[in-house]
Amino acid sequence: MPQQDIPETIRTQVVAQGAVPYVAADGRAYLVVQHAGVWRVFVNVCPHRRLPLDRAGQVFMTEDRTLLVCANHGARFDPVTGECVAGPCAGKRLQRVPALEAAS
Ligand code: FES
Repeated sequence: MPQQDIPETIRTQVVAQGAVPYVAADGRAYLVVQHAGVWRVFVNVCPHRRLPLDRAGQVFMTEDRTLLVCANHGARFDPVTGECVAGPCAGKRLQRVPALEAAS
């Protein structure tokens, strides 16, 4: 599936906010991210306790907006690689979904 399958409303929110959760028609939960011009789509499951990273639809980032922050226990993730760089799951990764990412 090309990125065009991510609804325009979600893409607009991502451009404004940096990262938003997105639940596809089939019920799968994703995290759509744009960072430094790079689009990423991850499965919205934190590798720490297998919970969604967002809280009530809000995805948190560090104050300098360089890392994603899990709303549950504060794990921090590189928004491009998905690697957990700090917190209880350091060294693990979010699962990327390249088929939903931009082709360019
Ligand atoms: S579930 Fe994400 S840090 Fe614990």
